[in-house]
Amino acid sequence: MRSLLSVPASQPKMVEKALTLDCDQIILDLEDSVTPADKAAARTYLKDFLSKVESKKRISLRVNELSSAFAKADIDLICGFNPQPLSSVILPKIHNLDDVRSWAAKLPAGMQLEVQIESAMGLIQAPHIASHPQVISLAFGPADFMASAGMPSSNPGTPWPEVANALQWPLMQVVIAAHAHGKTAYDGPYFQISDDLGLSSSARTARALGVDGKWVIHPNQIALVNEAFTPSPEEIAHAEEIVAAFNASSGATSLDGLMIDEASKKVAERLLERVTQIRK
Ligand code: GLV
Ligand code: MG
Repeated sequence: MRSLLSVPASQPKMVEKALTLDCDQIILDLEDSVTPADKAAARTYLKDFLSKVESKKRISLRVNELSSAFAKADIDLICGFNPQPLSSVILPKIHNLDDVRSWAAKLPAGMQLEVQIESAMGLIQAPHIASHPQVISLAFGPADFMASAGMPSSNPGTPWPEVANALQWPLMQVVIAAHAHGKTAYDGPYFQISDDLGLSSSARTARALGVDGKWVIHPNQIALVNEAFTPSPEEIAHAEEIVAAFNASSGATSLDGLMIDEASKKVAERLLERVTQIRK
């Protein structure tokens, strides 16, 4: 998984277009990108769209917070399908394991859940949240997280320049919580949609921290995010050399001045596994 495109479910043209784009997953959003006045019409559209859609991509639905006035209708929509067209449900603003349990009890049995960690409490509780058997991924939500943590900013998801890297720490916590339980970790979106350099840097930073993929909110962001999350030919060749050198050794060796041991082999193998997964 590299890019997950979030589209407002209130915009049928954007939803239809998403099916044709090079993203790995489509997130049909009923939460923050859809105004309260548009939510009912968006659900009516989704009911029809999802009963007909055929796609090789993973298609997920982001519901409204369970405590909101909109959640009941979101749940009814999801429970009304048979067969179930959704690959997963995206749960925003999850603060603890009980939040996940409450959702799981209301959604179809066994539904895969992808949780957004986007509050101070959610971050503290992330290791417990990731332990739920139906939770398959955690995604960091930079904009809501900054609001919750009290970080000032005029650009959602972008801290003041004095602390430009401040979100790396919570993002890494999300990676650790997810990976500790064998789950996937995603970074949230980059909100400045015409800032390609900023997007690439944000995506590369995320990958460097161990993140598995990144949300995008505009079709123009897909290619850059896919590129950042796809190992380059040089990286692949180097990883193959490391594995070969290790396998030809008796447990440790060196390659062009680099010490190769069991750990470096594991890092290389993980990169090669990622390549296999992307090529599928
Ligand atoms: C995404 O939902 C965010 O809050 O950044
Ligand atoms: Mg959010």
